[in-house]
Amino acid sequence: MVALSNFADMAKTAIEEGIDIIFSGAGLPLNLPSFLKESKDTKLVPIVSSARAAGLIAKRWLEKYKYAPDAFVVEGPMAGGHLGFKSEQIEDTDYKLEKLVSEVISEAKNIEDKAAKPIPVIAAGGIYTGEDIYKFIQLGVSGVQMATRFVTTEECDASLEFKKAYIDCRKEDIGIIKSPVGMPGRAIINEFINDVNAGNKKPYKCPYHCIVTCDYESSPYCIALALVNAKKGKMHNGFAFAGENAYRAENIVTVKELVIRLIEEYDAAATD
Ligand SMILES: Cc1cc2nc3c(=O)[nH]c(=O)nc-3n(C[C@H](O)[C@H](O)[C@H](O)COP(=O)(O)O)c2cc1C
Repeated sequence: MVALSNFADMAKTAIEEGIDIIFSGAGLPLNLPSFLKESKDTKLVPIVSSARAAGLIAKRWLEKYKYAPDAFVVEGPMAGGHLGFKSEQIEDTDYKLEKLVSEVISEAKNIEDKAAKPIPVIAAGGIYTGEDIYKFIQLGVSGVQMATRFVTTEECDASLEFKKAYIDCRKEDIGIIKSPVGMPGRAIINEFINDVNAGNKKPYKCPYHCIVTCDYESSPYCIALALVNAKKGKMHNGFAFAGENAYRAENIVTVKELVIRLIEEYDAAATD
């Protein structure tokens, strides 16, 4: 996340260690190629919420570093966690993932011409079934990024309580919070969030200084702590970030079972 106060250190270290890909979101990674130096091992993939952001990043990278993005992830407003949209844009059909994807694909084509290399586009945010994957592949993406559907797998390292929050929640329990870091975020609304909204949480001492944009002096809680608590299962002291489709989870399966299911659903959609 570009907004992390140790973003530069993390990027440098990942590149030194020969990491395959850096997916970089939560801000525009305008100087990311500066950390590459001589390395050719690490691919750089910005996560964007608009064609404009994709164009801006590519222009800067080409001008300053003679380097084009190796792919783009387009993350739409149905994703989980922090969202790169204003609150009023989240339900606006002008910002639907299908529309954003088409716009970013044509922007990526323009950049491909200048960079003389292919720039795959990956869609993310609300993709839940194999049928959804098929739909986006038909729209021209090279791949999809999925989070919510994989939370309720055995392999996911969140606590059982976190996964149960997904299985037990209803559609109407999933909502948008105003995060202390200055962005809206999608989460499962629980007692903790209701307490924050009712003004029952007190300002706290910032333990990490982790996010550059965090308004920690007036924020009623620490988002990093709340998310880590939820991951560990302390749901009274935090909350679960979740995509729009989290309520559809019914049980915990293995990743292998899930992938087989996704392939079946994809194949069924493809032969329709
Ligand atoms: C529990 C959870 C935590 C997430 N945390 C982050 C994060 O820290 N940084 C980030 O860039 N995206 C984060 N995301 C967004 C995902 O990377 C992903 O793009 C998005 O949720 C995809 O949509 P889906 O969840 O509907 O599949 C998170 C998503 C979930 C569900």
